[in-house]
Amino acid sequence: MNIKLNIKKSYFNEVYLPYLNNTERFTVFYGGAGSGKSVFVVQKLILKLLKYPNRTLLVIRKVSASLRDSIYQEFVTHITKFGLADHCKIMGSSLTIYLPNQSKIIFKGIDDPEKLKSISGIDDIMIEEATEITLDDFTQLNLRLRSKAENQQITLCFNPVSKTNWCYKHWFANGTPEDTCIVHTTWYDNKFLPQSYIDSLEQMKVTNPVYYKIYALGEFATLSKLVYNNWKVEDFNWKEVHRRGNTRALFGLDFGYINDPTAFICTLVDTTNKKLYVFDEHYEKGLLNDEIAKIITNKGYSKEIITADSAEQKSIEEIRKSGIRRIKPARKGKDSVLNGIQYINQYELIVHPSCTNLKEELENYCWDRDKNTNEYINKPVDSYNHLLDALRYAVEELSRGWKLKSISKSSFGL
Ligand SMILES: Nc1ncnc2c1ncn2[C@@H]1O[C@H](COP(=O)(O)OP(=O)(O)OP(=O)(O)O)[C@@H](O)[C@H]1O
Ligand SMILES: [Mg+2]
Repeated sequence: MNIKLNIKKSYFNEVYLPYLNNTERFTVFYGGAGSGKSVFVVQKLILKLLKYPNRTLLVIRKVSASLRDSIYQEFVTHITKFGLADHCKIMGSSLTIYLPNQSKIIFKGIDDPEKLKSISGIDDIMIEEATEITLDDFTQLNLRLRSKAENQQITLCFNPVSKTNWCYKHWFANGTPEDTCIVHTTWYDNKFLPQSYIDSLEQMKVTNPVYYKIYALGEFATLSKLVYNNWKVEDFNWKEVHRRGNTRALFGLDFGYINDPTAFICTLVDTTNKKLYVFDEHYEKGLLNDEIAKIITNKGYSKEIITADSAEQKSIEEIRKSGIRRIKPARKGKDSVLNGIQYINQYELIVHPSCTNLKEELENYCWDRDKNTNEYINKPVDSYNHLLDALRYAVEELSRGWKLKSISKSSFGL
């Protein structure tokens, strides 16, 4: 039987055409809202399935209940547009679509792992809204893609919601992984959008800059509650600020080595006006203790009081022996993280433009959520906290007599 397909170039957004037949195992479509990512992947995968008979595509979202009204519907829409609907078996009850060449599309939620395990013979996978699933889920899915079919591929779509999300860490943090194609798009690339939608995205520039960054520009930003909102980047001359009086110079050091950087921070604290000026930082992986001492000396801070992570007494001792006489361990103790956060939150942080790593941490250090209820808990996510831990150590000197008022969630605005 011959079927007349109705496929025109005008059905596609031009920007995606080079990716119709890419052969990398992983293809990542990320960017702004309404940029045409999902529709293009649907179009591309329908065409791929038509090319290979007896092939099975698994379409994944985190929650199965959200499949029917979203991505399943897109497949039905574009199968219809291609003039294929009368030749396919479209089974809404089981969320399965059979194409005329015996290839099929099945839709599953990751919330149903037992069902997932029972599916075999998967040849391609599409992960819609990939930031909703976990790295563990992704790893499991990748392991399932092991049939003998040629050109097996996993395609992911998402908006860049947070640098703490696995999608950032896995696909971007350490450069593009092997065998991966990454495509970034925004509303600008989608000719099918109504002007009203574009206007509403652009309006967010004023009403909600974080949403604007993620959904209009398609850049990573965090939607989670940030630990610190009391900061701005502003140019200042630290010597001038120091000369005005009223400030104390305090320095903090957090140790890292292979996976985490060593983070050194330099501040001037004005306790009267509650201003905390951060004027210098050092942020580097793989540093040995004598190298840390050398960096501090070269910066001219070897005579200053430096408060360091108390978990590394031996490192502190070595650095002291290298000439940094006034280095001392921070007092850690129970609730010291929350205590320090609450103390720093009384201040306005003024970050010198040269402190780019601190800015990155401030933009991403956020509160964690309960895995089951998704409610915020009074514990920060353990990343983007190296310079910020060093900052807590630095001001510990001042916060010593200062007691945490309350460690209840509400005292952190959660
Ligand atoms: N090729 C196309 N043909 C017709 N309409 C399209 C096409 N591509 C996109 N659209 C229209 O643009 C809308 C947005 O596209 P799509 O859902 O693919 O964007 P997205 O990048 O996946 O957005 P989000 O980030 O919100 O998931 C679609 O709902 C559809 O109305
Ligand atoms: Mg989409």
